Amino acid sequence: MSNIVIIGTQWGDEGKGKIVDMLAPGVDAVVRFQGGHNAGHTVTVGGKSYKLKLIPSGILHKGKLCLVGNGVVLDPVEFCAEADALRSEGLDLGPERLKISRKCHLLLSYHKVLDQAREAWKGDDKIGTTGRGIGPCYEDKAGRAGIRACDLEDFDLLSRKVKMVLAEKNALLTGLYGKKAVDPEETVRELKPLAVRLLPHLADVSEELSRVEAAGGSIMFEGAQGVHLDIDHGTYPFVTSSNTVAGNAAAGGGIAPSRLHRVIGIAKAYTTRVGAGAFPTELTDEVGEYIQEKGAEFGTVTGRRRRCGRLDAVILRESVRLCGVNDFVLTKLDVLSGLPEVEICTAYEYRGRRIQYPPQAEGGLGEARPVYERLPGWREDLSGVRTFSDLPGAARNYIRRLEELTGVPVSMVSVGASREQTLVR
Ligand code: GDP
Ligand code: IMO
Ligand code: MG
Repeated sequence: MSNIVIIGTQWGDEGKGKIVDMLAPGVDAVVRFQGGHNAGHTVTVGGKSYKLKLIPSGILHKGKLCLVGNGVVLDPVEFCAEADALRSEGLDLGPERLKISRKCHLLLSYHKVLDQAREAWKGDDKIGTTGRGIGPCYEDKAGRAGIRACDLEDFDLLSRKVKMVLAEKNALLTGLYGKKAVDPEETVRELKPLAVRLLPHLADVSEELSRVEAAGGSIMFEGAQGVHLDIDHGTYPFVTSSNTVAGNAAAGGGIAPSRLHRVIGIAKAYTTRVGAGAFPTELTDEVGEYIQEKGAEFGTVTGRRRRCGRLDAVILRESVRLCGVNDFVLTKLDVLSGLPEVEICTAYEYRGRRIQYPPQAEGGLGEARPVYERLPGWREDLSGVRTFSDLPGAARNYIRRLEELTGVPVSMVSVGASREQTLVR
């Protein structure tokens, strides 16, 4: 059986959740492998919208095994709240189908406090993070000071670790950021009732994956954020703190890279970005506003307006190169209906040269000027279209051009939030 990696190929919010939910019936397990509750994956089923942050988007399918891999940073408060919300919708979230890696790093209250304090301290230079503590939690992981899910099984160890780590954090919080110190004992106390709820879900996720494979099953790896928010390959420093590229499905899920067979890149028919950082094809005119409103481009996690712009084949080409994207799923094509022209950025002008891939210098992308190709738009409402051949000629042409510019076929097109509004080629 073949294992699939789903990744966002832009700056996040490409519609990964919808596609993971769509494809879940064809696999035996769905695994999140990086990020935390900075992710917001909206899945719409039967007119109802579910906002998933930490729990894999396969959860709406009865009995589907859903796993939170070691690469995820897990906030126990958020996890329990999300699970409660889903349970109140009648979903089964028993520990036999929803498992968390013991190796997951726990995102605790002080990570959130630090994230927000640092952003405030940076003022105009802030990253525009989701304020969820993601960066500080990954810092502790890399700094070998993290608290892991398995530590919930040993509160003596956990207490010692929290005390040690907070000695450092509190010096920073009170000394530099002028904030109140965080009490280690209270932090540990708050964790106790959460531990009771989390413990039954703890598992060896890597072993779970090999069990699925041994039984002839297949696995889907659900990425969060997007390639251009990757800590190494994104628009540093305006990135998230994990590797979002497809290769991290192996490290963050606990599976060998040779077991990843297909990479599906989710691309929105235009580009959006939340938070600060360069965005060459950003539109600040009425076309940008049209897309923002028609596409309801508001962040799921923070409610911020998403910045909107033209489709950028340069960043998509880079995502193809970095992730070995086998095929694209093009989402939100319906949003572009009604525009007289649709433009695609095919290359950048950068320091007197024409380039095909994003520049690497810090701030380089901010200097890149998009080179556009204009294509005719279409008026037709696409939300009721169900087959590729029923798309207007101009929409098919737009897709074909994207395929030519990236060298990757578009295997599915999404024309609305619900499952049915998906055209499989
Ligand atoms: P994700 O983070 O990549 O999962 O994407 P989000 O869920 O944050 O953002 C995508 C939004 O667009 C969600 O509200 C989806 O319900 C919605 N959506 C997904 N596909 C389509 C589509 O083809 N057309 C329209 N109009 N909305 C879509
Ligand atoms: P999904 O999975 C869009 C952005 C933030 C900020 C930067 C760093 O729904 O596509 P962080 O809180 O991660 O330290 O913030 O990354 N960001 C996202 N943008 N979609 C996401 O997730 C995002 N997760 C983080 O806005 O610019
Ligand atoms: Mg999102």
